[in-house]
Amino acid sequence: MSRLDEAKTAPLSGSLGTLVSGLDLRKDLDAATVAELRALFLERLVLVFPDQHLSPDEQRALMRHFGEVEKHPERPRVLEDSDEEVVIITPAAGVSAVWHCDYQPDFLPCGICSLNMVETAADGGGDTIFVNAYRIYESFSEPVKRLLDGLTAIHRNTGNAGRNRDEAWFPLVGTHPETGRKGLFYSAHHVQDFVELVPEDAAMLLARLQQLTQKPSFSLRYHWSPGAIAVWDNRAVQHYVVPDFAGSRLLYQVTVSADLLIPLPDYEAPSESDRAVAASEIAPR
Ligand SMILES: [Fe+2]
Repeated sequence: MSRLDEAKTAPLSGSLGTLVSGLDLRKDLDAATVAELRALFLERLVLVFPDQHLSPDEQRALMRHFGEVEKHPERPRVLEDSDEEVVIITPAAGVSAVWHCDYQPDFLPCGICSLNMVETAADGGGDTIFVNAYRIYESFSEPVKRLLDGLTAIHRNTGNAGRNRDEAWFPLVGTHPETGRKGLFYSAHHVQDFVELVPEDAAMLLARLQQLTQKPSFSLRYHWSPGAIAVWDNRAVQHYVVPDFAGSRLLYQVTVSADLLIPLPDYEAPSESDRAVAASEIAPR
């Protein structure tokens, strides 16, 4: 019997997210429970476990059930004695009030991310909004999907000095390595151009994607309580921190690596010479 049978699960919105209560994550999870949690996670993209109050080590142990924990050597944001695996999130480091996915220091996307809410903002602000990238893709017509299927997104690092490079290119559309579901890898804050589009077309598509990212019906707005931990699939979900709070709060973040979206079979990555031409024609706007 899985320990998930004793827990309560409830959807957090129509588009994504499930609340899992009554499961003590400080106790070891058996294989059957992990398998059920992973299946639920892949279906719902965000799992939130309230009232857990995990230590950073317990958070790392939980995340090892989802993959290999990544290092984020971005001192001073990393927790001492955590093998560079636990990132400290406080308002002093800035509030991520932009729609984005998380990236590793080498500017590859993180696979699966977790946030452990230690101390909430006293004024009740600081919700996190998650948006389902499958819903964005599926909202387009078939002709537009065919266009998107051939595009290479240019991701630009904006202001994070802890990253080793400033630009990365990924197919905009791919299939999820575990579910085979087709969707976008899209981070509104970082995707700033497309290799195959002229600037006017790229600007129009970016505006449309940004508009859809903010569509309430594709999203989940989660209001934190102390001790809650959220785990999300960073390959299919963007997130945004609502900057409506003042004063202190504290979260720990731990991420694990996971395979990226698989390019579509007929996707052709731009050649080196195409990249050079595109790089010279597409200037940051
Ligand atoms: Fe983030």
